[in-house]
Amino acid sequence: MKSKETMIEVNHLSHLYIDENGNDVRALDDVSLSIHRGEFVAIIGTNGSGKSTLAKHFNVLLQPTEGHVNVCGYDTLDGEHIWDIRQHVGMVFQNPDNQIVAAVVEEDVAFGPENLGVPSAEIRKRVDDALAAVNMTDYAEHGPHLLSGGQKQRIAIAGVLAMKPDCIVLDEPTAMLDPKGRIEVLETIHKLNKEEGITIVLITHFMEEAVTADRVVVMKNGVKLQEGSPREIFTQVDTLKGLGLDVPVAAEVAFKLTQQGVDIPQDIITNDELGNALINYYAKEAH
Ligand SMILES: Nc1ncnc2c1ncn2[C@@H]1O[C@H](COP(=O)(O)OP(=O)(O)OP(=O)(O)O)[C@@H](O)[C@H]1O
Ligand SMILES: [Mg+2]
Repeated sequence: MKSKETMIEVNHLSHLYIDENGNDVRALDDVSLSIHRGEFVAIIGTNGSGKSTLAKHFNVLLQPTEGHVNVCGYDTLDGEHIWDIRQHVGMVFQNPDNQIVAAVVEEDVAFGPENLGVPSAEIRKRVDDALAAVNMTDYAEHGPHLLSGGQKQRIAIAGVLAMKPDCIVLDEPTAMLDPKGRIEVLETIHKLNKEEGITIVLITHFMEEAVTADRVVVMKNGVKLQEGSPREIFTQVDTLKGLGLDVPVAAEVAFKLTQQGVDIPQDIITNDELGNALINYYAKEAH
């Protein structure tokens, strides 16, 4: 079997914050996890389960209290390599307005490589490529404030792309977007994953997004509760609901139908699968 190259290795990671009363808050508790190059991993979990704290370790916005995080072969506790790691792993956050710094789209996208001291001809190429990759070329000379939320998030992604990352970590990038913006952003990150081989870590509360990942990690109270393929995770409808998590609508409908004796496959998680199963079911019934 071909061995997969590890992009991010989390080894017995615990993270303690100190709250305003001086008490320890154990936001992550002995988490171990590997993310492979080229993978698309979704992280789900209820509010306060430690998703953002985990993600912030991937580009050294936080460092472990206990344990280690290795990114592209660098230990994040090794202070010398923080900037190397940040070039390999870009972050995109929830609020697009907080991530855009310039008054013109292309200047915003150029900001990262300019700070790295990339030569200007190379910056021009990177900006053009990044805007093309997120399908925003036509907006290069626009003011970001006039764009939709989905367009702004794609500009934020372009800004990260201009740094030529191997991995992009997105912390609820669609939480503030309308359904159209959510689709735009999800399609963009899938394209970057497939066509450019960029490793994607997507934190999301939307199970319809998580279902499109290669692998899903479930967090609860700072602990990694489960990891598996979307099918392994989302067919456990009762378990996830018990954790206070949603499941994709198709998985829930299929679960309820099979409970009522409707004979359809038990492992349905997408709308297409549900649609096909129902068509087959009714075709059989009609005979
Ligand atoms: N700066 C901080 N100081 C103290 N406690 C914090 C701090 N940041 C987060 N916490 C606590 O750490 C725990 C994990 O928080 P985290 O933000 O990682 O969760 P999350 O899964 O991202 O939640 P959400 O879905 O709401 O974004 C929570 O109990 C939170 O209150
Ligand atoms: Mg969070």
